[in-house]
Amino acid sequence: MKKLSMCVLIAVVFGLIISGCAPDGAKVFEKAGCLSCHRYKGVGGSICPDLTDVTKRKSEQWIRQQIKDPSKNNPNSKMPSFGHLSDREIQAIIDYLKS
Ligand code: HEC
Repeated sequence: MKKLSMCVLIAVVFGLIISGCAPDGAKVFEKAGCLSCHRYKGVGGSICPDLTDVTKRKSEQWIRQQIKDPSKNNPNSKMPSFGHLSDREIQAIIDYLKS
C-alpha cells in the first residue's frame, strides 16, 4: 500500500514538472508580438504572411531560422529577429503553428 501511494506521488510530481516547464507556444507567440504583424487562424495583423499553414510550406529548420535570425533566410527580410527567445520557446511556437 505504501509503495503504491509513493508511486502515485512520484507520477503526480513528474507530471507537474513536465507540464509546468514546457513553455506554452500560444502564449509565447502572443507575448513575443508575432500577431502584431502576422495573422494566424484568423487572428492578428495582415501586413505580413499569414502563418496559418506555414508549417506545410516551410521546414521546421527554416522556420526556426526565421524566428532566430530572419536575415539568414532572406537578407532583405523585414522581420525583426527573435534571437532572445530560448530554443524551447521557439520550439513551442513551432509546435503551436503546427497545431
Ligand atoms: C514587425 C513585423 C513582424 C513581426 C513582429 C514578426 N514577423 Fe514574421 N515576418 C515578417 C515579415 C515582413 C515576413 C516576410 C518575410 C521576410 O521579410 O522575412 C515574415 C515572415 C515570417 C515567416 C515566414 C512566412 C512565410 O510564409 O514564408 C514566419 C514563419 C514568421 N515570420 C514567423 C514569425 C514569428 C513566429 C514571430 C514572432 C516570434 C514573427 N514572425 C514576428 C514580419 C514580422
